[in-house]
Formats: sequence, structure tokens, C-alpha cells
Amino acid sequence: MSEAGRIYGINGPVVYVKGDIGFKMSEMVYVGPEKLVGEVISLDKNAATVQVFEDTTGIRPGDQAEASGYPFSVSLAPGILHNIFDGIERPLEQIAAQSGKFIRRGTQVDSLDFQKRWETHIAVAAGEQIKPGDVIARVPETAAITHRCMVPPGVQGVVEKTVCDGSYTIDEPLVTVRQENGDLRELSMMQQWPIRVPRPVSLRYPASRPLITGQRILDTMFPIAKGGTACIPGGFGTGKTMTQHQIAKWSDADIIIYIGCGERGNEMTQVLEEFSKLVDPRNGNPLMYRTVLIANTSNMPVAAREASIYTGLTLAEYYRDMGYDVAVMADSTSRWAEALRELSGRLEEMPAEEGFPAYLASRLSAFYERAGTMMNLNGTEGSVSIIGAVSPQGGDFSEPVTQNTKRFVRCFWGLDKSLAYSRHFPAIHWLTSYSEYLKDLAPWYGEHVSMEFVDHRNRIMALLNQESGLMEIVKLIGSDVLPDDQKLILEIARVIRLGFLQQNAFHKDDTIFEAVISMKYDVPNDRLKMFDEYRKAVDDFYRKIIEKNG
Ligand SMILES: Nc1ncnc2c1ncn2[C@@H]1O[C@H](COP(=O)(O)OP(=O)(O)OP(=O)(O)O)[C@@H](O)[C@H]1O
Ligand SMILES: [Mg+2]
Repeated sequence: MSEAGRIYGINGPVVYVKGDIGFKMSEMVYVGPEKLVGEVISLDKNAATVQVFEDTTGIRPGDQAEASGYPFSVSLAPGILHNIFDGIERPLEQIAAQSGKFIRRGTQVDSLDFQKRWETHIAVAAGEQIKPGDVIARVPETAAITHRCMVPPGVQGVVEKTVCDGSYTIDEPLVTVRQENGDLRELSMMQQWPIRVPRPVSLRYPASRPLITGQRILDTMFPIAKGGTACIPGGFGTGKTMTQHQIAKWSDADIIIYIGCGERGNEMTQVLEEFSKLVDPRNGNPLMYRTVLIANTSNMPVAAREASIYTGLTLAEYYRDMGYDVAVMADSTSRWAEALRELSGRLEEMPAEEGFPAYLASRLSAFYERAGTMMNLNGTEGSVSIIGAVSPQGGDFSEPVTQNTKRFVRCFWGLDKSLAYSRHFPAIHWLTSYSEYLKDLAPWYGEHVSMEFVDHRNRIMALLNQESGLMEIVKLIGSDVLPDDQKLILEIARVIRLGFLQQNAFHKDDTIFEAVISMKYDVPNDRLKMFDEYRKAVDDFYRKIIEKNG
């Protein structure tokens, strides 16, 4: 603890501190006698503004705010997976053990378990040259994932000595490095990283592989690339959460980071209950073995909600650095934007559209920019894919969060109220949705599904478009007057919609990996034949995935 300043003003989660106290921007600060965790968000010569990640009730002018000396960071080490954190990486289980079911303020718990011993395999030897990103030890973190402990960015040199393979805690020194300036530095499994700074990489690759979601409409009509970005905008109850759960459960990402951001507490409880029971379709282990949940429900402090997105992203990037494909779900980015708006209001910043701060767009773009397939510093390839739910009020897509999000994501999976009301799930509307990855992924689909895949996909989209045009006429004068050819288009489109695009998340077979159509159709027709081939190709492809996963 270096220095302390005096609080002279408090406005909700925003606290003003007086004096030339040597605070730095984004530094972590402990506020008041309970040492509530906060972060410096604005500075001038004799004063600092701090956002506090906990409820500030009872804090008074005159109380102290202490500097921590380092930026607001998360701890990265084995023990992250299979865990449930709040927005600032405090494990909820430990908080509950310390303060009961209702989180007490100022509860100080370690992010990770410092007592637990991990079976460690050292991956470097004395005399070896090491640089940032190099793997120094391998730790089986869960039955599903091996944790690769890496040299943190900024450390470089020659290994002086190492410990033997064995079991160690996360902060015990494993490797001693003589750095280029001659200093010795001890490396343990753990490193710290400031949440607002993207972790460094060597190279960004263009999109080339799809993230297989197991949802037919997404995988075949509007695919997202590994390392890609997508948003799921939709009005109340149209299926945003459900779609994200489905992707979290069934996608072929190695690691899932699920950020419940400002949504209802009962929804989060449902996630916790459901996920803990889920079995990984790949290997029969619990799905939680490769999942991290970050819970910041609507009744938790807004500043922590603002931070939760960055906490999640930093954890995702850390696993990407190990060479894993990580998928981040954020439900919902609108609640996050509302947290920005509330904080900005408290800071008396000039509001822009609908009261959101003028920097809403740059924050959103910085968030989605952290996605990508990268060549990591250690030469491995890993990816972070981001899928953000957007909940526009009244389902009106013209509001600022949806519009700005649309500028930065390349997949738009628009949920439609009328589809949801007519129980067509997932209610992703094929006419409003799009994926800009289709072209990048076409070679992959050609190789792994079928050569005609993209062509068939486009023809199916054309049929659905024709159907929507014909439906206008049908609405006016009925379908009887249509020529047979057009009637057939309507019939085929119906088969595609009801038999292929609909997918019931609650049905044990339909929920995943079955591109089979339950409807009967026996009209001989080349369009139907084309659709049949397409469907069979998708079916074969899903089957291959099932076989590969045992
Ligand atoms: N793929 C699906 N299969 C079956 N039912 C679905 C599917 N998607 C959504 N539903 C139904 O829609 C309901 C609402 O979905 P969900 O809770 O995901 O909506 P939401 O958009 O997250 O709502 P909110 O705005 O309240 O957060 C679900 O409880 C479920 O009954
Ligand atoms: Mg929801």
C-alpha cells in the first residue's frame, strides 16, 4: 500500500478523492475502512475520481482511499476453469463461505486457491533461452484441459534453474530466469494482467475455420468463424439467452467463458444449475471442466458489471495464448452499455444519443476487436470468438447499442418477435440475419462438407426470399391463384423452415447434431433434390463430428 488520499465527495459508485496522491490512471484503489475495491477512472493534479466495484453506502467524506500501486488486474493460473466468479474475479463460492448467501461488502477473497497443489510438469531446462509466451510448465487443470503456464510478457532471458516435476501451489517459484539486464526473476504458475489491456500476440490470421455451433441455421446459413464476432439482438423473450446456452453447450470451442452481465438473478441461477449438470459431448466429463462462468446479475453493482466484460475477455485471451479456441458469450451487452451510461451520468459527462456516452461506439469496437484467430507469442494458434447478446428495448433495432454493435460484428443473428410468438425456434430470422464470413469459410465448407455446399446454401436462401415475396401476394389474394411452380416454391420453403431451420433446444435429439427432417415430402423436383443433397451433406458432416468426438 503506497499512499492514501481523502474522500471529499461520493456519488453512487463514483468517489472523489482529494490531494496530490500519486494515483495513476486505471490503478486499483481501496476505498474506506472496509477497503472496497475501486479503480481510478479520471485524474487531475490534485484530485482523482474512482469507480468503486461495490456498494458505497456508509462511506463518508474524510474516509481514506489507498493506492495499491498496480493497475486493476486479474490473476491468471490453474484454477480458473470450473469456477464461478463475480465481475472482478472473486470466486462466488469463497465469498459465500465467508459472508453467507448475501455478499457482504469489502469481502476480501483470493481470486484463485493458493493452498491447492497442482501436479506440475516442468517444460524447460537450465540454460535454455526463454521469451514471453514460452511454456514453462504443464499442469492438468481439469480432466479436459491442460494448463500451459507461460512466461509473462516482458520477461526474457536464460533459465538459471528449475524445480523438479512434482506438486506445487500456484505462487511457488518454478523457474528462475536471468534476465538480459542481469537481474534474477522467479516465475511461478501465476501471472497478473490488467483487464483493460489486450494481451499481446504475434500475428492476426484471417478467418478460415468456422466455429461449429451445432445449431443448423447458424452452421449452414449464417456461420461464424473461429475468432469471429457475432451479435444476437432480440426483444424480450425471443431466445437470446437460449441461443447462447445452446452454443455454450454444443459448440466445438475448447473453452467457454460465459459472462452473465446484468441479467436477472434467476436466469443466472438457472445457468449455474444447468451447466453443473451438463455432460461434455466430447468426452463425457462435466462441461464445467472447460467452462468459466462470470456472474454479475442486475442487482450487483454497476461498476463491477462494466468490468465483468473485460475480466472475461482477459481470461479468454489467456487460454487463447495457450493455443486453445475460446468462445466468449456475453449476455447482455445492452446491460453493459447501460452500466456505462449510468457511470457516465454520475461523472456528469455530456450525454450523446439516448443518454449513452459519446464513447459508446469506441468501447463496443474495442470489445469486439479483442476477438480473433491469432498466432500467439509462443507460435501456437488460438482464437477468441465473441458472441454478444443485445437486448434493445421494445425489440427496436434502431437504438444505439444495436446500431453501433452492427458496425463492429460480422455476424448478425437477428431474433424476430413474430417467429418467437409462433414458436419457431431458434427465432433467428433468415431475412434480417447475415454473416460476412461466408466467403472466407467457403473453401473450408468445400473441403469438409461438400463442394456444392455454398452454392446450395445460396439457392436455399433464394428460395426463402422468393417465398417471402410470394407471401405478400398470398396475403392479398390467397394461394389458389398461384401457378403450380410458385405453389411448389411455397411448399419447399415450408419444408426448409419447419424441417430444417427450426430446432428445438428441449428435444433430446433435435437439440444438436441431427440435420434430419421429420416431415414427409415426396414431390419429385430438382429444387427439393438439391435441398435433400444439401441436408444429407450437413447430416454426414455432423455425423463425422460425432464420430470424431467418440
Ligand atoms: N431453440 C429453442 N428451442 C426451444 N425453445 C426456445 C428456443 N429458444 C428460445 N426458446 C423459448 O423461448 C423462451 C425465452 O428464451 P430466452 O430466455 O432465451 O429469451 P431472451 O431473449 O433471453 O429473453 P430476455 O429478454 O428475457 O432475456 C425460452 O424459455 C424457451 O421456451
Ligand atoms: Mg435472456
